[in-house]
This record gives sequence, structure tokens and C-alpha cells, in this order.
Amino acid sequence: MTEAQPARTDTTPPSGWAVHRTPTPVAEADREARLAAPRFGETFTDHVARMTWTAEAGWGERRVEPYAPLALDPAALVLHYGQEVFEGLKAFRHPDGSVWTFRPRANAERLAASARRLALPELPAEDFLGSLRALVGVDEAWVPARVGASLYLRPVMVATEPTLLVRAARRVEYLVIASPAGDYFAGGVNPVSIWVAEDLHRAAPGGTGAVKTMGNYGASLASQVVAQRHGCDQVCFLDAATGRLVEELGGMNVVAVLADGSVVTPALDGTILPGVTRDALLTLLAEDGHPVAERPLPLAELREGLHTGEIAELFACGTGAVVAPVGRLAGEGFDLTVGDGGTGPVTAAVRRRLTDVQYGLAPDRHGWLERLV
Ligand SMILES: Cc1ncc(COP(=O)(O)O)c(C=O)c1O
Repeated sequence: MTEAQPARTDTTPPSGWAVHRTPTPVAEADREARLAAPRFGETFTDHVARMTWTAEAGWGERRVEPYAPLALDPAALVLHYGQEVFEGLKAFRHPDGSVWTFRPRANAERLAASARRLALPELPAEDFLGSLRALVGVDEAWVPARVGASLYLRPVMVATEPTLLVRAARRVEYLVIASPAGDYFAGGVNPVSIWVAEDLHRAAPGGTGAVKTMGNYGASLASQVVAQRHGCDQVCFLDAATGRLVEELGGMNVVAVLADGSVVTPALDGTILPGVTRDALLTLLAEDGHPVAERPLPLAELREGLHTGEIAELFACGTGAVVAPVGRLAGEGFDLTVGDGGTGPVTAAVRRRLTDVQYGLAPDRHGWLERLV
């Protein structure tokens, strides 16, 4: 049991966020135990940052509140028509104790692009940054101080107006929750296995594949079940138009490393999420002398390349896992080992290059980090 403390209300300058602290924070020993072995997305901090938008007043009510279940009208538009967008990024503790996040303005821009596609109001980048600073400022003790661990931040914007009319909501809630994160996959950075879904698609031209909205993820789950049945960790989706081209995984982009050291990844054609991690890794790979091609990647080419060894490495990338080596690629009628099934040298090196910057162990030459605390 935690000892109840009086509720405190104060305002954190200069951002204008009101802070209502929980009277019952998780006890320090319990928090430290959770930080010692965090599993991705399974434990949450003491607070949530929130803002409210109405068609009449725009964005307002910037506040940090105790983490608690939401009171949502059963007719809330999001529950029926999925008007929702979200983001994902991480806060990293540096050796001097300061806390930083990685390219948050890219996430702010992507959230705005997602919001436009879902007819939701755009959140100004300064409010996005402000919400991260407000929450991490209050819940700073939840940021692990260990390389490999971080505090995952999940901003989400939902249509809360109670109505069964199919139209854009006139009331919207924005919130940020935070979850201490260790390894994304239970097996750590060991190679993952991928099942190629050839019948079900996650995105189609003109659809919502290039933005971060709940429907894309709901639509990916049936394939995920099939993948698990085949002993695979993740699903790789093919394009809906031809069914021939590799697009991405349910929650990560994919990159192939050829035996000649060049790198190929599917081009951002409007159905693939433009990953912030993907973009940073391509920059680092190009700087390290790997020619980078963003172009259509046929599954047949990938299968053939893995078979002949012309494709030496394959990895998935995203905020959660950072870089996940792929050891096995399987689908109806094929089951291929990537390289020797282990983590390839290019994959290992670029992962290290990026995480060294994120954890403050290497200079941030690109100005990718923003300080939160
Ligand atoms: C479908 C999908 N693709 C790719 C990514 C990787 O994006 P990022 O590197 O910005 O996390 C994510 C994760 O956000 C995702 O959900």
C-alpha cells in the first residue's frame, strides 16, 4: 500500500499545463521492481497528459492528471466509427541523468498528417512537445536509467462526442500515456520470424496505410493469429493492388541488406507508414557507405535473394524494437532462413549506431534529440 498524500494542484511554467498529482503514486520499491524488468506496454506510469478540443473553442484544458480509466459515453464516436489517431516515441535517460526524446517533431508532423486523414483537428507541434514535457516532467522517476530500456510515450487522439451520426466529431480528447519499456520482443534482440500474409491486406491505395490509426492495426490482427499458428512472431503485408510487393509489418518497416552491402526498402507509396526509425536508419546507412534504394520490392525478388544468398540480411525497424533482425521468412509454400538465421553485421552495426545516439553515448550530429527533462 502507498501512503496517501494530499492532492496537489499547480501549474508548471512556462507551458501552461495544470498538474493534478495522484494522491496514490506507485510506491518507490514497486516502481523500481517494475523498472528492473519492464515488458513492452504492460505497465504504466502514475499520470496522463490531456487536452480537449471542441469545434467551438479549439484546443485547451492542458493538464496532467492521475492515470485512471476514462469515462467515455457509450455513444462516443470513436467506439463506433474509429475516428482516432495515435503516435509512439520514446524518452531515453542519458548518462548525466537528463531525459531526451528522439525526433519528436517528426512524430508531431505525422500525427498532424494522420489527423487530417481522419478528419480530426491538428494538434500544434508545440502542444505535442508540451504534452510530452508535461508528462515526463511529472513522471520522470519512471524513465529507466539503463541502456536498452526507455519510457515509451503513446499520444492518442480520440473522437469522444456522443453521436451515432457518421461525421467528424465536434469533441475530441488528446492524451499521452507512458510505459517503461525494455525489449519489445520477449526474446530480446534475438532474430524474429516473419509470416508473409498473401491473402489479407492492411492497407490499400487511397486508404489509411500511411497514417497511424487504429483501424490499420485492427485489420492486421487476423493475420497475426495465422502467423502465430505458423510459429512466427510478426506478419509481413503485401500490397493490395497487385499482391506481389512487400510493404511492411503490422507495426514495423522492413529493410533488406544485399550481399554487396547495398540496402533496399519498399518506397513510401502512400500505403506504408513513414517510420521515423526507418528514415533515421537509412540516413545512417547511407552515411556509412551503404547505397540505399527506396523502391518497390517484389516478394519474388526477396525469396529468390534469400535463397541464393544475394540478400544477406533482413531487418524490421520501428520505435518499439528499434531494429529487429529477421532470422526466418515464411509463407504459403516457403520457409526461408535469412543468412545463417542470426543477427547480420550490418543490422547489428546500424542498430548500435542509432541506439548510441538515442542514449547519449555518441554525438547527435543530426539534431535528432530534444531534451524533455
Ligand atoms: C505500421 C507501422 N509501420 C512502421 C512503424 C515504424 O514507425 P516508427 O519508426 O516511427 O516507430 C510503425 C510504428 O510506429 C507502425 O505501426
